[in-house]
Amino acid sequence: MFDSIEELSDKLASAQYVIDPVTLQVIFLAAKMEKPLLVEGPPGSGKTELAKVVAFAANTPVERLQCYEGVNEEKAIGKFDESLQRLFLETQTVTTGDSWTALRRDLHTLDFFHEGPLLRALLYESPCVLLIDEIDKVNEQFEAELLEILSEWQITIPKIGTIQARSKPFVVLTSNEVRRIGDPLRRRSFYLRFEHPTVERETRILELRTAESHPEIRAQIAGFGRALRGYSLEKPPSIAEMLDLAEALRILGVREITTELRDVLLPLIAKTEPDRKRLLLRDGFQSLMQDVKHYSQGVEDTRTQSEEQLCAARARY
Ligand SMILES: Nc1ncnc2c1ncn2[C@@H]1O[C@H](COP(=O)(O)OP(=O)(O)OP(=O)(O)O)[C@@H](O)[C@H]1O
Ligand SMILES: [Mg+2]
Repeated sequence: MFDSIEELSDKLASAQYVIDPVTLQVIFLAAKMEKPLLVEGPPGSGKTELAKVVAFAANTPVERLQCYEGVNEEKAIGKFDESLQRLFLETQTVTTGDSWTALRRDLHTLDFFHEGPLLRALLYESPCVLLIDEIDKVNEQFEAELLEILSEWQITIPKIGTIQARSKPFVVLTSNEVRRIGDPLRRRSFYLRFEHPTVERETRILELRTAESHPEIRAQIAGFGRALRGYSLEKPPSIAEMLDLAEALRILGVREITTELRDVLLPLIAKTEPDRKRLLLRDGFQSLMQDVKHYSQGVEDTRTQSEEQLCAARARY
């Protein structure tokens, strides 16, 4: 998929994805060694986005299985297209002897199968990205069925048989840890742990992913995100919510977050009633703003340091 770590780094940069040197190397290794990536972390920490940007970088499609409780083989792998089978039968006249056997065989081929994302992912001539998103929502039985695909690169479909992968997809499994993913799947994967971003990382994301052109307010928003996440909220804000906040402030023409903005900002940052109440407390927002000031400082220095680390990692390859 990628010839060098430098190529991967450049392509992820053009996808405007902020990545640290270690994660970059793990992705490169996973692609080279054809290992699935299991990515765990809080909501909005960039897990799904990782799959999308790897696909962008490799110039390949994403096949996505969005998991939910009750997702079944039909949704994941596919099912026979009965109306197409019926239509085909209507065009056939002979229904006895050898012809019937042949007809039955013809009906149970991929031509009459409506493929789900797992099967489609194996049928590409060159590797796609297979995103199995929020795998913690499926049950253990379904997880076990995934093992055949991820270790043997094949799928067994009743009446059709075993289908071997034409190419091995780059697999990204994401989890918000609602249920613990079993060890067999962990053993087969490389594990990436995403956390809420540091202030420097979020400042960089804001720089790349918003139209906000003022570095000071970007740093302040990132500091605000950090302060909110340290505030024991029931639902701490995700990166996506901080991007929304940045866009809202830009639309309002705000260059500095102040306590006076509390009421208009609350619907963007406090998404549960207890969190809203907490931030409405007399000194709640005031003390939060003190933390914001603290966290927003020194962003530029650390960013330079991380860029140096990235350059050093790239130079090693
Ligand atoms: N490293 C990053 N670089 C650039 N943008 C990022 C990064 N991480 C997250 N984002 C931004 O945050 C948004 C949310 O990320 P994403 O949807 O991948 O989160 P998630 O971890 O999959 O969350 P959930 O668990 O809720 O599905 C992305 O659409 C992207 O705009
Ligand atoms: Mg996601």
